[in-house]
Amino acid sequence: MSKLKKAEEFVNVYRVKKEQFPAFHVTPPCGWMNDPNGFSSYHGKIHLFYQFHPYNEAWGPMHWGHSETTDFVKWTELPIALAPDQSYDDAGCFSGSAIETEKGHLLVYTGVTEQEENGVKNVYQNQCLAIGNGKTYTKLAQNPVVTGDMMPEHFSREHFRDPKIWKEEDGYYMVVGNKTDDGKPHVVLFHSEDAISWEYVSVLAKDDTGMLGTMWECPDLIPLGRKHMLCVSPMHCPAYRNVCLVGTFSREEGKLLNVEPVCPDAGPDYYAAQSFVDDRGQCVQVAWANGWDWMPQFRRWGVAEQGFWRGWFTLPRVVTEGADKLPRFQPHPQLETLRKKAIPWGRKELTAPWTLPDAAETAWEILLEIPAQQQTGGLLLQVGSCFALELTLASRTLHAYARDSGEQTVQDCGTLQLAPGAPVRLQVFLDRCSAEIFADGKCLSVNVFDTAPLRPVSLIPQGGTLPLQLLQVWHLQHVMEPQT
Ligand code: FRU
Repeated sequence: MSKLKKAEEFVNVYRVKKEQFPAFHVTPPCGWMNDPNGFSSYHGKIHLFYQFHPYNEAWGPMHWGHSETTDFVKWTELPIALAPDQSYDDAGCFSGSAIETEKGHLLVYTGVTEQEENGVKNVYQNQCLAIGNGKTYTKLAQNPVVTGDMMPEHFSREHFRDPKIWKEEDGYYMVVGNKTDDGKPHVVLFHSEDAISWEYVSVLAKDDTGMLGTMWECPDLIPLGRKHMLCVSPMHCPAYRNVCLVGTFSREEGKLLNVEPVCPDAGPDYYAAQSFVDDRGQCVQVAWANGWDWMPQFRRWGVAEQGFWRGWFTLPRVVTEGADKLPRFQPHPQLETLRKKAIPWGRKELTAPWTLPDAAETAWEILLEIPAQQQTGGLLLQVGSCFALELTLASRTLHAYARDSGEQTVQDCGTLQLAPGAPVRLQVFLDRCSAEIFADGKCLSVNVFDTAPLRPVSLIPQGGTLPLQLLQVWHLQHVMEPQT
């Protein structure tokens, strides 16, 4: 039986019951998932693949899981797209991207192999292609189409992965994550006329300072107004989990110039972000809402450890250019269709703690606004016993704290600095085991690893009565029903 068929049959037997899942976040049907891959549209549908190891809850030889949507909200599970079944990818089909072409839906991924050479096990990573109809995919006979040997000699052949493809008037381009043999991270650029024969162009962006990690995983280059934004996931980088380098893309020089680093998410759970520009020209980004155990803020898997699955994606967010030419991140407007039941409020101030009704509910959206002139006091949003958001109005700061169940100490999960002198507008999404907070075009994503789901939710005024010019609360729909 083929590896693909074997994986499909396994998923059909071990698919996890939907009650165990988050309500409105993309999760694997069972087993392990990490990075979003191949975020693209094909024949009018939006496709999102993911790094997938169906057989257990730990990372293993990577497959590509597959789902599609028409609205970024309700996702349909499709058959597994890729399995590690060829001599050039038998150690894993690692992350990559996809594009609609005249010949079909083209997937570009990293084929990983391990070779025993002189008693040493060497790892090689090369870029490969598969073409399909939006449902099933065939790997190309020409694979691998981009190999490490096409680059300068002192560039790593072992850490050469995560191709992101796009098209310009003069053909196809791809960026790939890489590093020099002495441990400096960079992103390399390739060009092709037909998406099959590729040539090495240049180093698109690099870091020589040592401040931005040792290797850049999952490079993602997208237009941002007249500039471009290169998001990378730096390995071994205490300063950033994920960083966007905003600069000017010169196609002639093959370089991203005058780069400025921006943090796309202040929380600990935002990695391997991938974006795509939809048919209306809107740039949408999602990320793996977890991280690796070598990361400074790595936390275990919480509720997910109770079931036969691990990992989920963040909510889709729309990326736009702000007046300062830097990116702004907003929840995708289609997420409003998740709003199932509004909880009445109807007052103008919070004088005492308010615990939301329906304490068993775990899927919430909370939208609130505090007037600009309110400069004292604040708000504590307490969720269960393991998560809190603390807003301090004098400094316009929003701190997130979480405590894994069973642990005594509370961990600082990041801070959002809000604009001074403006109303505070917070939009908070709570799912079974995660919180995503949006304010002033910034966001903070955090997993909350309590053994029980996140509840109840209380809004507690700090330092006296808190005026609220808006407070809206909704139960959200449970949409992540696996296909049967
Ligand atoms: C990022 C990453 C990628 C790699 C994939 C393997 O999370 O390490 O660089 O392709 O995961 O699953």
